Parts: sequence; C-alpha cells; structure tokens
Amino acid sequence: MKKAFITGISGQDGSYLAELLLEKGYEVHGMMRRASTFNRERIDPIFFENPGRFKNQLQLHYGDLSDASSLNRLLRTIKPEEIYHLGAQSHVRVSFDVPEYTADITGLGTIRLLDAILETGIDTKFYQASSSEMYGLVQEVPQKETTPFYPRSPYGCAKVYAYWITVNYREAYKMHASNGILFNHESPRRGESFVTRKITKTLARIMANKTKELALGNLDAKRDWGYAKDYVEAMWMMLQVKEADDYVIATNETHSIREFLDLAFGFVGRDWNDYVRIDPKYYRPTEVDLLIGDATKAKEKLGWTPKTSFNELVKLMVYEDLKAEGLDADKLMKL
Ligand code: NAP
Ligand code: GDD
Repeated sequence: MKKAFITGISGQDGSYLAELLLEKGYEVHGMMRRASTFNRERIDPIFFENPGRFKNQLQLHYGDLSDASSLNRLLRTIKPEEIYHLGAQSHVRVSFDVPEYTADITGLGTIRLLDAILETGIDTKFYQASSSEMYGLVQEVPQKETTPFYPRSPYGCAKVYAYWITVNYREAYKMHASNGILFNHESPRRGESFVTRKITKTLARIMANKTKELALGNLDAKRDWGYAKDYVEAMWMMLQVKEADDYVIATNETHSIREFLDLAFGFVGRDWNDYVRIDPKYYRPTEVDLLIGDATKAKEKLGWTPKTSFNELVKLMVYEDLKAEGLDADKLMKL
C-alpha cells in the first residue's frame, strides 16, 4: 500500500485529498495541530459516511509547521512515498494582521518540510500548495506559469518564497518537487470566513430567519473560482508524472463577488441588495482585483480539466448550506 503524508489534512483541501487517496487505496497519514476545540469536522464524516470502508487506512498525527523536530520525526517514522504540503495560515486578510506568523508558517513551513526530506533521506515526491495570490497585481491576463509574480499581501509574499524554495530544492537536490499554482477553489467545506462560503452560509441563515444582514467588503474583485474536489485531483496527478514541474490549475473564467451574490441569492428568489451591508473592515490594504488562470499546460501534460461550472459550484454550496440549516433545499431552490 502506497503511503501519503498530508499537512493541513483538517482543512478544506486536506479533507478532499484524503478522501481521494483513500479511495485509491493509499495509506494516508495526516498531520494535525493540537487545538482546544474539536477540529476534525471535515475528516470524521469520511468515516461515518463509509463505516468500515477505510479501516486502518487513515492515521492522524500531532505536529506543527513551526516545529521542525515534529516534521523530521513524522517523516522518519512514516517514510511516505508522496507528501502533499497543504498546511498554511491561508487567509489573505488575516495575513495583514499576523504577517510574521504568516511568513513563518506559510513560507518557512515549506523549507522546514523540504529540509526534513533531505535530512531523513527518504525517497519521496513533494507537492507544494502554491497560489494564484502570487500574481497579485497581475502582469498578464490570463495568468499562466510564465507570468511574473507581484504579490499584494504578506500571505502572497510567503507563498512566493515557498514556491521558489520548492523550485530550488528540485534543482539543487534533484527532488521530485512540484508547485500547483491553484486559483481559488471552493466547496461546502470551505472555511466560513472566505467570501463564497460566508455568502452561502449567511444566505442560509437569512432563509432560516436567523439574521437579516450580510456584511462584506470589496464587491468588485474578480476571481477564477473552481470546485475543490476537482482541484485535489490535479495535486495527485502532478505527483504521478515522471518529471516534477509547476502547473496552473484554474477554470479560465472570472466572476466578481457581485456575480456570486446574484447567482446565490437568485437560487432562492431573493435580492442581495436587501441584505448586504458594506463594512470597510473587510477591505484589504492592498487588493488583488482580478484573477483568471490559463491551465493549458495542466491539460496537455497531466490531462487535467475542471469538471464543475461556476453555476454548479454556487448551486452546490447554497444547497448544502440550506440543508445544514435544516431547511428544505429542494423546495426553496425549486429543484
Ligand atoms: P484551509 O482550509 O485554511 O486549511 C489550512 C490547513 O493548514 C488546516 O488544516 C490548518 O489546520 C493547517 N495549518 C494552519 N497552520 C498550521 C500550522 N502552524 N501547523 C500545521 N498545520 C497548520 O486551506 P485550504 O483552502 O484547504 O488550502 C490548502 C492549501 O492550499 C493552503 O496552503 C492554501 O494556502 C493553499 N491554496 C488554497 C487555495 C484555495 O482557494 N482554497 C488556492 C491556492 C492555494 P487547522 O485546521 O488546525 O487550522
Ligand atoms: N474573506 C472575505 N470576506 N473576502 C471578501 C469579503 C469578506 O467579507 N468581502 C469582499 N471580499 C473579497 C476580498 O477582498 C477578495 O477580493 C475576494 O473577496 C476573495 O476573498 P477570499 O474569499 O478571502 O479569498 P482570497 O482570494 O483572498 O484568497 C483565497 O484564494 C487564494 C487563491 O487565489 C484563499 O483561499 C487563499 O488561501 C488562496 O491562496
């Protein structure tokens, strides 16, 4: 049985990737931070919904990206054939509040892990969760692998460091180390403080008469939004090819926050203008106005294409959040 090691397994992508690898028959080892509250909401349902199916295939371990000794120990004992490095302080707005912490976890966390591979001498393939935020103030439209980076946040800067150190270790030590430059990807498991999930979750609360207001920041930013479940497949594909390389993963479509609101509220026959209040506290000191990616290289070299449209993604997120509020989603969405 092939062994995979995932950092950030408790996050959105970590949970979908764990599911994918378990279905492919991998033994999956996930690194978790210790928290004072329960933080396995995204992982546990995989087992409850499939009782007995993935028995003994998943193991969770305590560790932290700030703690090199924990990374070394885990790699030395597990000896995974594939490492998916997804752990990060991943919130762009928050990175302006905790810039040094973000540099430490999101930037230096990657070198700690790469160095642990070197020190332990294990033979493994490495995936780095790079981000379209590295393009920031975009130098080209659409963005592709050769587009110069211009990050606009402490998070974006930390990801640029992690990107280049991954390239450097590939070249210096002949490691199979790849960067997936993923554009925004969402799902019903998306963290509730990211804009898409904040919208669908609050919409469901509005429908349940629990709130009358949705406070947002800049509605004019445009993002290339895909479905997380489609995107974790690309991560796996990058580690199955002979040569390590860097790939943009995107839908090649862009939509504003306003368009997301139109669609989401439209599914339940409401007008978002009746509920949205602009709160400047959600503005960023420097904004990324437009992202749209060109994933031609991933299509040609990996055979990857997105399967889920923007419309389907928004519908899925609204549907699941209505259900989670105990509402009759089929009736409310007239499906
Ligand atoms: P997410 O839901 O925020 O998950 C981040 C994960 O990192 C969580 O499991 C979190 O653990 C873990 N983590 C945070 N700090 C850590 C630390 N100090 N030590 C160990 N683990 C730590 O993010 P995501 O959306 O799944 O994204 C996965 C990765 O892809 C991230 O690196 C993100 O920056 C990158 N990315 C995401 C997107 C996107 O649109 N989703 C696009 C491009 C790149 P807790 O559960 O304990 O907080
Ligand atoms: N979070 C948030 N909350 N964003 C808001 C809000 C709000 O209330 N109102 C407007 N926005 C705007 C932000 O200003 C930004 O332009 C856009 O919505 C998207 O914000 P997020 O959903 O927080 O995502 P992001 O694009 O900043 O970052 C995500 O995607 C990156 C890939 O491009 C994160 O997942 C990053 O980890 C990831 O690398």
